Amino acid sequence: MITKFNHVAIVVPDLEAASKRYKDVLGANVSEVCDYPEHGVSVVFVQLENTKIELMYPYGENSPIKNFLEKNDKGAIHHICIEVKNLDEACKKMKSNGIRILGDEKPKNGAHDKPVIFLHPKDFYGTLIELEQE
Ligand code: CO
Repeated sequence: MITKFNHVAIVVPDLEAASKRYKDVLGANVSEVCDYPEHGVSVVFVQLENTKIELMYPYGENSPIKNFLEKNDKGAIHHICIEVKNLDEACKKMKSNGIRILGDEKPKNGAHDKPVIFLHPKDFYGTLIELEQE
């Protein structure tokens, strides 16, 4: 069911500083800061040959990652994203296996404008997993 690794998302306390460190120290190819008000995040994309890293910072007062940054004030890995061929089928499979889907359990368009769901980290060994329609 899962196919490609899409990205790892890291919440950082200072997006400009983190972006600069990836660029200057790791020699990474980094994007400008992209704001996603509808998702409550600002993101810098670190493009690698085979995948990408997303550096995230809360956007707005109701950001879904605001509490996460308060708890992890030096920054931390927030989630990993893996692609699936058929997200509706993936949803059914999660439910039939007792895996909790966050929110109202329905796919929502993510930051890449493709449908995504998030699986409860307690059901996947402490890792928040985003499944994205490929
Ligand atoms: Co993501």
